[in-house]
Amino acid sequence: MSANRPAAVVVLAAGEGTRMKSATPKVLHDICGRSLVGHVLAASGELEPENLVVVVGHAREQVTAHLAEVAPGARTAVQAEQNGTGHAVRMGLEELGVSVDGTVVVVCGDTPLLTGETLRRLSATHSADGNAVTVLTAEVPDATGYGRIVRDEASGAVTAIVEHKDASPEQRAIREINSGVFAFDGALLAGALKKVRTDNSQGEEYLTDVLGILREAGHRVGASVAGDHREIAGINNRVQLSQARRILNDRLLTAAMLSGVTVVDPATTWVDVSVTFEQDVVVHPGTQLHGATHLAEGCEVGPNARLTDTLVGAGARVDNTVASGAEVGPEATVGPYAYLRPGTRLGRKGKIGTYVETKNASIGEGTKVPHLSYVGDATIGEFSNIGAASVFVNYDGQDKHHTTVGSHCRTGSDNMFVAPVTVGDGAYTAAGSVITKDVPPGSLAVARGQQRNIEGWVARKRPGSAAAKAAEEAVRGSAEEG
Ligand code: UD1
Ligand code: CA
Repeated sequence: MSANRPAAVVVLAAGEGTRMKSATPKVLHDICGRSLVGHVLAASGELEPENLVVVVGHAREQVTAHLAEVAPGARTAVQAEQNGTGHAVRMGLEELGVSVDGTVVVVCGDTPLLTGETLRRLSATHSADGNAVTVLTAEVPDATGYGRIVRDEASGAVTAIVEHKDASPEQRAIREINSGVFAFDGALLAGALKKVRTDNSQGEEYLTDVLGILREAGHRVGASVAGDHREIAGINNRVQLSQARRILNDRLLTAAMLSGVTVVDPATTWVDVSVTFEQDVVVHPGTQLHGATHLAEGCEVGPNARLTDTLVGAGARVDNTVASGAEVGPEATVGPYAYLRPGTRLGRKGKIGTYVETKNASIGEGTKVPHLSYVGDATIGEFSNIGAASVFVNYDGQDKHHTTVGSHCRTGSDNMFVAPVTVGDGAYTAAGSVITKDVPPGSLAVARGQQRNIEGWVARKRPGSAAAKAAEEAVRGSAEEG
C-alpha cells in the first residue's frame, strides 16, 4: 500500500453550498457525529499522503478552526474567490510550494460516503496503468447536474468530461459521471492547470478540463469505476444530507451486526462513527448512540435511549434513558425514564430507577436509587438504598455542595439531604426527613415534625360531608365488632 502512497491529497472545500440554505458552511454539516469534510479527511487519511491540503474559501475562519480540531496535520490553502474547481486545485498546489512530484489525489469536501478503500483502488489503478490522470467515475440512475464522462466509441478510452450545463443532448444521455475524485501526476497536473480557460457556461476554471488537455498532449487518461454509485454522491442540499446519513448509518449498523450485535430495528437506531460495541449487545428500537459511547458485552440498551459519551458495562440494562458523560457498571440497571448527566458513575449491580436524575454522582456497587429522585454532587457507598422521592439538595442559590452517604445505609422516602452533609456507614434516616446535620454511622436520623391527631375534627368542622359519614360508619363498625 505504501508503494501507492500519494505525495498529496487536495480536498476542495471552498464552495459556499448555497443550496443547503444554512448559516453553517456546507462541509461542516454533521452526519453520524462527524462533519462532511471530516468524513472526507478520514477516508483520505487512509492513503497516508505525505501532504494533506484543504482548500478553504467561503466562511474560511469557521472551516479552518474546525480543521484545526479534527485534522491538526492538515494544511489549508485559501481560495479567496471561488473561480472553479481547477482554480481551487491551483491554490492547493501553490500552498504545497515547489512542484509536486508523485501522485496528487483530489477529492471534494462534500462526499462523505467515499471510503478509503475506493481511494486506495483509484490510486492503485492510477499507478499500475501509468496514467497522467485517473478519474473516479460511476454509473448513476440520474446524472442531472454531474459532469459526464465522454469515452471514445472505438477504444472506450476517456476523452473528456463535459459539465451538465455545457453538455449536448447526446452527452446528457450519458449515465457515467465524474465523481469529482481524481488521481493525477503532480507535475503534469500543475502544467495543465496553467492552460485551463474560463470560456464555459459558468466562466470558471474547470478541473475537469485538465483531462482533455493531458489527453491532447499525448498522456494516458484513465478511469476507475466505483462499485457503488451511492458512495460518490456529493451533498448539495438537506435531502441529500439525510439520504447520506441513512446510508452511513446503515453501514455502521451492518458492521456492528456482523460483529455480533443485535440491532432490533436498524430503521430507528442511529449511531455515530465513534461508537463501539462488544459482542452480544442488544440495541432496542428508537435508540441513538453518540460520541465515545461504548456498549460492553451482553448489555441491553433501549428502547428509546439517547446515550452520549457513555459507557455501559457488561450485562447492564439501560431502558428509556438519556445519558451523557456517564458510566454504568456491569450488570447495573438504569431506567425506565432516567436522566444521567455528566459525572454519573454507577457501580456493579447498582440501580438508577424510574424518574431519577443524577449528576456528578458516584453510586457504589449494589446501591439503589429506585424511584423519583435527584442525586447531584454526591458520593454514595456500596449496598445502600435511597428511599423514593429523595433530593440531594446541592445548590444554595450560589454554590454547589457535596453530599456523602456511606455504605449499607437505608435512607427513608422523601428525604432532603441539604449539602454539605454526610450520612455515615450503616445509618438509617426516617421518611420525610430534612437532613441538615451529619448522621453518625449506625444512627437513625429523624428530622421531621411530630404527628398529632385532632380527634373528631371532621364531624365538627365538616358536618354532613361524605368524609364525616364515612368516619361515622367506620366508628360504628369498629364499635359493633368490638
Ligand atoms: C463538480 C464537477 C463535476 C462533478 C461533480 C461531482 C467540475 C467543473 N465539475 O461539479 O464534473 O460531476 O463535481 O460532485 O469540477 N469548490 C471549490 N472552489 C471552487 C469551486 C468548487 O473549492 O471555486 C469545491 C466545492 O466546495 C466542492 C467541490 O469543489 O467541494 C465541487 O464543487 P461544486 O460546485 O459542488 O461542483 P459541481 O458543480 O457539483
Ligand atoms: Ca457538488
